[in-house]
Amino acid sequence: MKGLFIVVDGIDGSGKSEIVKMLHNYLFSKSKKYRILTTREPTNGVYGEQIRKMLRQEKDPGSSSEKLAELFIKDREQHLMNAIEPFLESSGKHELNIVLCDRYYYSTIAFQSAQGMKINDIIAKNKRFRKPDIAFVLDVEPSIALERIAYREKEKFEQLEFMEKIRKVFLKMPRLLKDNIKIIDSSRPLDDVFRDLKKYIDRILG
Ligand SMILES: Nc1ncnc2c1ncn2[C@@H]1O[C@H](COP(=O)(O)OP(=O)(O)OP(=O)(O)O)[C@@H](O)[C@H]1O
Ligand SMILES: [Mg+2]
Repeated sequence: MKGLFIVVDGIDGSGKSEIVKMLHNYLFSKSKKYRILTTREPTNGVYGEQIRKMLRQEKDPGSSSEKLAELFIKDREQHLMNAIEPFLESSGKHELNIVLCDRYYYSTIAFQSAQGMKINDIIAKNKRFRKPDIAFVLDVEPSIALERIAYREKEKFEQLEFMEKIRKVFLKMPRLLKDNIKIIDSSRPLDDVFRDLKKYIDRILG
């Protein structure tokens, strides 16, 4: 196997970061043969920083769709070229390199189409990027997700109506793309959510 590329995606507050941490810990203890790169999008690179700034400062969830799509794609290109692909490609005979990525192009497709861009255009712009071996979409009702992140300062996209739109696109993802996508019910306790993911990962790792 030439490395293993795992993505966890979903709406804000769906539990991605918690699940990525649990997955990281699980894989780290499972075998000394695994080398793990745990990473996220947007990155801390120049484009990622521009994105974060826009998400903090702008208030209208409908604004800047084209600009954001462009920045996310540039950020992703760098992320793949500088970090993800070299790491996966250097997986050797005696070790398996695993990338865990918190958000990927599924978010760009869901968010920027919810902002009004044509979904086929966004999919086309992301076609050239490496497909994950498996991608998990954590699914939860936006009202629950918002309760979970109530303690944090709200970003541009963290509004109920907008999140409902994004969720609908995430749920359509397996029909939109030929990727290996698993929709996971993340309204349950984290341990239950994780147990589902683990089942799929164990099946791949044998
Ligand atoms: N299944 C769950 N049950 C209860 N609480 C949860 C669950 N999943 C996550 N949480 C809690 O909800 C909050 C948000 O979770 P987390 O940061 O993992 O979400 P996220 O998807 O990474 O959000 P964001 O997209 O904003 O980064 C955290 O406080 C976390 O502990
Ligand atoms: Mg997170």
